[in-house]
Amino acid sequence: MCGIVGYVGHSAGRGNTEHKALDVVLEGLRRLEYRGYDSAGIAVVADGTISSRKKSGKLSNLIAELEAHPLPDAVTGIGHTRWATHGGPTDMNAHPHLSDGGKLALIHNGIIENFAELKQELTAKGVTFLSETDTEVAAALIGDLYRNHLGGDNANGGLTKAMELACQRLEGAFTLLAVHADQPDVVVAARRNSPLVVGLGEGENFLGSDVSGFIDYTRRAVELGQDQIVTITADSVAITDFFGAPAEGKEYYVNWDPASAEKGGFPSFMEKEIHDQPDAVLQTLLGRSDVDGKLTLDELRIDTDLLKSVDKIIVLACGTSAYAGQVAKYAIERWCRIPTEVELSHEFRYRDPIVDANTLIVSISQSGETMDTLMAVRYAKEQGAKTVSICNTNGSTIPRESDAVLYTHAGPEIAVASTKAFLAQIAAAYLLGLYLAQLRGNKFQGEIKDILADLGKVPAKIQEILDNAEQIKELGKDMADAKSVLFLGRHVGFPVAMEGALKLKELAYIHAEGFAAGELKHGPIALIEEGQPVFVVVPSPRGRDSLHAKVVSNIQEVRARGAKTIVIAEEGDEAVKAYAEHVIYIPETPTLLAPLLSTVPLQIFALALASAKGYDVDQPRNLAKSVTVE
Ligand code: M6R
Repeated sequence: MCGIVGYVGHSAGRGNTEHKALDVVLEGLRRLEYRGYDSAGIAVVADGTISSRKKSGKLSNLIAELEAHPLPDAVTGIGHTRWATHGGPTDMNAHPHLSDGGKLALIHNGIIENFAELKQELTAKGVTFLSETDTEVAAALIGDLYRNHLGGDNANGGLTKAMELACQRLEGAFTLLAVHADQPDVVVAARRNSPLVVGLGEGENFLGSDVSGFIDYTRRAVELGQDQIVTITADSVAITDFFGAPAEGKEYYVNWDPASAEKGGFPSFMEKEIHDQPDAVLQTLLGRSDVDGKLTLDELRIDTDLLKSVDKIIVLACGTSAYAGQVAKYAIERWCRIPTEVELSHEFRYRDPIVDANTLIVSISQSGETMDTLMAVRYAKEQGAKTVSICNTNGSTIPRESDAVLYTHAGPEIAVASTKAFLAQIAAAYLLGLYLAQLRGNKFQGEIKDILADLGKVPAKIQEILDNAEQIKELGKDMADAKSVLFLGRHVGFPVAMEGALKLKELAYIHAEGFAAGELKHGPIALIEEGQPVFVVVPSPRGRDSLHAKVVSNIQEVRARGAKTIVIAEEGDEAVKAYAEHVIYIPETPTLLAPLLSTVPLQIFALALASAKGYDVDQPRNLAKSVTVE
């Protein structure tokens, strides 16, 4: 998830002369930096040439670079702030990427799934590549089409036509913005499964990943549809589909203030991140399998023979990431038949764990910097284990020190309470489980393909929950005075219950516990008194019969003792209605995938309750986003 800005104004003496491309683009990048801050770059078109600067690290590094090596004045420019996916956060991998002999500059958000095949094709034509990015491949493709297919002749459609032809070849998710030295007053952009908005000015036009990219200059915006190309000049905006047919965007007026624009119009980063979840899961799944469902986890550079010989998996993580691990354990054991333990990182090395060369350590960390997890990984490595990191932060310490990494592509998570990273971690861990099953022959390719297809349907189902969240929000508000809330679940619903409780503790500062529903009768049921709110995560009635029936009995047990039950159940599960004060229905999905859905209402509940109490949901008291002490 990167931030993208584009600008075209008029040259001095015409139209709005006060804006320089550099200033507009830098201001946009500053507002979009929340989308990624691994590196930043900018390109302007001036005097018939492209000039660009790029730098790894935060935007401030780019600004220092620009002060040391200023760019010429220009009225056309593009800028990028990066959340690394292909290739680490280095100067070389930063955007823009150039092609056509330095005359074309391209920036990109997303993942080009067929970049390897295109790279091979272009390499055979003599193109050389400087970076490890898929973006440079897209730049080379557009450059090649512009120069060799269209003859570099703008009468043939120029950059817009080259973009069109390229988009017909590109697979995956992308927002692309390109400028060319031969067309100094034009920015061409394209989008598929990745955001892009046009800002309409007076004698100037803008592009941004979202409206915060240009909110300081205009409130008039145009939302682009899927698979569209837009060509902006200072006075025009032309939209087509990927085949050149005219298309239309949807114009709207932005009445957010600049601060809320960075949060996508949501009052908090946490709420925005909850709404980012369909995309976080989609991006994490993208580009990891072919049409036959064959998984190719390119980043997983561990010898496949070693992976085949693994006889035990230990998942190491803390907090929410550990709950993602607990969910993953059910799937990995079922799919791969490898014994899988989940251990809190800070407990691991103090108990003399049994770890050897056949142990696969899977660490899960959003930040990649959690000291407890880092120390546990180091310890496991010393014992000879192989280590894989599931991480959301490219280039952070834990993936760097691990033998292999599987990145989640949730984009930066700013709110302290983890939401979208949790769902992306589960998705990534499932990919790892399926990959091991494929490698070790535990599952037929067709079975893997079916599970991937079910996973592919999850983002739309999360969206459905988000679109129908009024009931759970009301509940959160109504329960603002609750002193304690309990959460029950069985099987994969158990870690979901613990995650629901953790969200409530950290955001609303009230007592909350998640229990395995079967454990109730062994003690916790004594907590139940008249009016005690209890959330129950109910498994699908279409799954294992006994599981559903057992949880329904547990609801009855607590209800009989006065609990107020709030039940999360699958659509169509009529049986639970009789025992619930409130039923929150979620879309049908296979049991193992259900946590990707059932967690969402619990996040929304905690957010609504904490907001009703007037608490800061982005920065709850006593907590830090990245815990870099043991
Ligand atoms: O960055 P990590 O995933 O390693 O962080 C682990 C925990 O500190 C983190 O999940 C924490 O529990 C969150 N605040 C939960 O919302």
